[in-house]
Amino acid sequence: MDRHEWDERYAQREQTFTPEPNRQVVAEVAGLAPGIALDLATGEGRHAVWLASLGWRVVALDYAGVGVRRAAARARAEGHTIAFAQADVYTLHWPPARFDLVLAAFFHPRPSQRGALYRAAAGALRPGGSLLQVSYDKANLTEGTGGPKDPELLLDPPVLARELGGLGLDVVRADTVRLRAPTMDGEEVDVVNAVIHAVRPR
Ligand SMILES: C[S@@+](CC[C@H](N)C(=O)[O-])C[C@H]1O[C@@H](n2cnc3c(N)ncnc32)[C@H](O)[C@@H]1O
Repeated sequence: MDRHEWDERYAQREQTFTPEPNRQVVAEVAGLAPGIALDLATGEGRHAVWLASLGWRVVALDYAGVGVRRAAARARAEGHTIAFAQADVYTLHWPPARFDLVLAAFFHPRPSQRGALYRAAAGALRPGGSLLQVSYDKANLTEGTGGPKDPELLLDPPVLARELGGLGLDVVRADTVRLRAPTMDGEEVDVVNAVIHAVRPR
């Protein structure tokens, strides 16, 4: 989906995704001391707002203006100061060694886009900082609900672990996680997430 399609999708409903943070994101961030976080492809900002509520300083971006404006309105309503930007993750100027956490949640770069993106993200981590990707696993196609249907977009944790290891990061977790997750309609459905957590060595 391109930027306009995401804007249209967001404009169709008052809220597209559940407002709570993803459970795997919560579990991985639980062990981290709050610092400066970058939430890539923030969407409606559920992780940005949640991180801010834990004391993180948050920069959050998305190329869909409807999503960013909704996220910013939520942050204001909940009393959080978050630096939001409407931007494409592939054209960012990444500051070196700035972030303690770079989060990519339910953002699915193509294999051909991953190398440059993750190299840039790794360079933007402070020593000891975490790159956390939580998205749909390739097994979601056959065992789960929702998510992209193009297999190229789905994550294979061992493959991503090799790619991130090749960039000099220490991969502390690369797992396929099967769970029941809430939908906007109040149901719980089967979902298969890929959870990859890599740390820049100190
Ligand atoms: C499934 S939503 C996930 C939103 C959020 N991370 C979450 O977990 O709720 C995917 C988001 O990625 C954004 N996105 C996709 N490609 C992007 C790009 N190249 N640059 C910035 N945002 C992008 C879309 O606009 C959309 O908001």
